[in-house]
Amino acid sequence: MKKLRSHEWFVRQDKMGFIYRSWIKNQGWPHDLFNGRPVIGICNTWSELTPCNAHFREIADWVKKGVWEAGGFPLEFPVMSLGEVLLRPTAMLFRNLASMDVEESIRGNPLDGVVLLMGCDKTTPSLLMGAASCDLPTIGLSGGPMLSGKFRGHDLGSGTGVWQMSEQVRSGEMKLEEFFEAESCMHRSKGHCMTMGTASTMASMVESLGMALPGNAAIPAVDARRYTLAQMTGRRIVEMVKEDLRMSQILTRQAFENAIRANAAIGGSTNAVIHLLAIAGRIGVRLRLEDFDELGSEMPCLVNLQPSGTYLMEDFFYAGGVPVVLRELGEADALHRDALTVNGQTIWKNVAEAPCWNRDVIRKFAEPFKEKAGIAVLRGNLAPDGAVIKPSAASRHLLKHRGRAVVFENIEDFHKRIDDETLDIDENCVMILKNCGPKGYPGMAEVGNMPLPPKVLRKGVKDMVRISDARMSGTAYGTVVLHTSPEAAAGGAIALAKSGDLVTLDVPGRTVRLEVEDGVLAARRAEWKATPLPDRGWLRLYVKHVQQASEGADLDFLTGKSGAPVARDNH
Ligand code: FES
Repeated sequence: MKKLRSHEWFVRQDKMGFIYRSWIKNQGWPHDLFNGRPVIGICNTWSELTPCNAHFREIADWVKKGVWEAGGFPLEFPVMSLGEVLLRPTAMLFRNLASMDVEESIRGNPLDGVVLLMGCDKTTPSLLMGAASCDLPTIGLSGGPMLSGKFRGHDLGSGTGVWQMSEQVRSGEMKLEEFFEAESCMHRSKGHCMTMGTASTMASMVESLGMALPGNAAIPAVDARRYTLAQMTGRRIVEMVKEDLRMSQILTRQAFENAIRANAAIGGSTNAVIHLLAIAGRIGVRLRLEDFDELGSEMPCLVNLQPSGTYLMEDFFYAGGVPVVLRELGEADALHRDALTVNGQTIWKNVAEAPCWNRDVIRKFAEPFKEKAGIAVLRGNLAPDGAVIKPSAASRHLLKHRGRAVVFENIEDFHKRIDDETLDIDENCVMILKNCGPKGYPGMAEVGNMPLPPKVLRKGVKDMVRISDARMSGTAYGTVVLHTSPEAAAGGAIALAKSGDLVTLDVPGRTVRLEVEDGVLAARRAEWKATPLPDRGWLRLYVKHVQQASEGADLDFLTGKSGAPVARDNH
């Protein structure tokens, strides 16, 4: 085996070798561990404030077993954990910050390979981004989804159920006491959201990119096989260090193309667009917003999971999970079969024989759950640099629509007016929400799936066209145009929209337009004023440097990678 990074700390026969070994021996490690064996970092996003990742100390223990078995030396370390539900104003504000923590923790320490423990939405991209900028042998391991929620004899999907039931409360179909009763029934085991929301989507992306062992995405968090996978991951990372199999050999353009197609086939979240763009930016693969449309939009959705369909991740696992989807793509010639994966085999070798056990959950490519279900990228004077929509989660009759705009200047303005019975709005209007993008919120919160006004809900209407520079939860649904770029706070055209303007959405034609004369828009632009930068701290750094959603919303100075050279001694 070639000389490892960790040798620069632990195999040294000098004063610094004494220092590097002596202090860590306070944990009880015997001297013979410092014999040059691969040191494996287990990058842990465990936190009691991140409920989806609260079982990760246990998972880390199983990874360690595997590392020991393979002759490595496992060392677990914490990084900033991003809990989607508790963190305010939005976990996305801190994705890039956590990625910096990951990158510098890996590079600064005596690590030869890394296992990334990921679960809740932002913990997956932040770890992949940080690790990609170091480019060591790295393997991803997701914490697994929760068991299906159960309420009054029916399945209840995380997130999706909240959006559905809260609209029922607002329309008077459901009592508040019933709504609160469901709160204890929705999340009843360890794990992350069990709909095909962002966490499940990103876990599926990790598997489709080849960055995790087969089966990673769908095994429930509490299934014994999740712990088997953790142990196998520990064994494998030691081998990867010996083979010097690095992230950049796996995260190729082909791998991202596979992931984009897989995202369409699973009915995955729009958030995957931003995260994949950011990860590609770190590893040095050129990926454009248009790639999602060109590669994915003609793809069928094969997976009948909420929010686009009926089932939940537990059912997906029992049906065969991501390997079945990848097999379907491969057989339809929609997969780069020779893309390399972390187990050293091609993706096709991993999935070619994957059996499907339930064709209602995972459909065949030729008999899909939904046709042409990938993410569509829209352009037009309302989104010159692009906006996205997930047609599989939208209402078919609204995909071509012209309506009068009802504009909300920010999220507070929306909350203040949406329940007002005198608000001049009906189901044909187009709701526009401004100042919720990366710079505007700041952090680009998941508020794009604006709840409908009660007077519209009472008519039995379940969907309206909504446009914003925000994101939406991967568990949400509706005819929702998101990520309009440039955002309002960066002076994007959405900042110029006014209530009463006519808006045309044409998803088949890929356009979203404000039907206002150029001269009028120019006059409005002359009056537009930028919001001053926040005074200090992370917020200031973030708002100053964050890129637009169409580019992945990474900080401009973080894109790219700088490897993991060993820095000079610390004493
Ligand atoms: Fe963590 Fe949904 S809240 S995955």
